[in-house]
Amino acid sequence: MCALDELPPGSMRLVPAGLETIGVFNCNGTLYAIEDRCSHDDGPLAEGEWEPESCVVVCPRHGSRFDLETGIPMSLPAFEAVRVFPVSVRDGMVVVEVDE
Ligand code: FES
Repeated sequence: MCALDELPPGSMRLVPAGLETIGVFNCNGTLYAIEDRCSHDDGPLAEGEWEPESCVVVCPRHGSRFDLETGIPMSLPAFEAVRVFPVSVRDGMVVVEVDE
């Protein structure tokens, strides 16, 4: 997907996965992958502001906050979880496992 060197702590990269786009975050050295589509109204979730100190992303459309680890919304208007994906590092490359 991308080299780990290109995803230092505090950064995010968008990666294509079939018809979807996934945001991969490096939050304090832990990698999280979350779908780039909000469960409320399809906002580009992974492209919102995010909080590296708490591993939370804020939907740029209506402001729901989501836990990057679980995809569970922490504030309205969203109330359904978004998909999250396992992430690993192989030979210095970040790999996201997507089950279509
Ligand atoms: S589209 Fe994300 S909170 Fe509405």
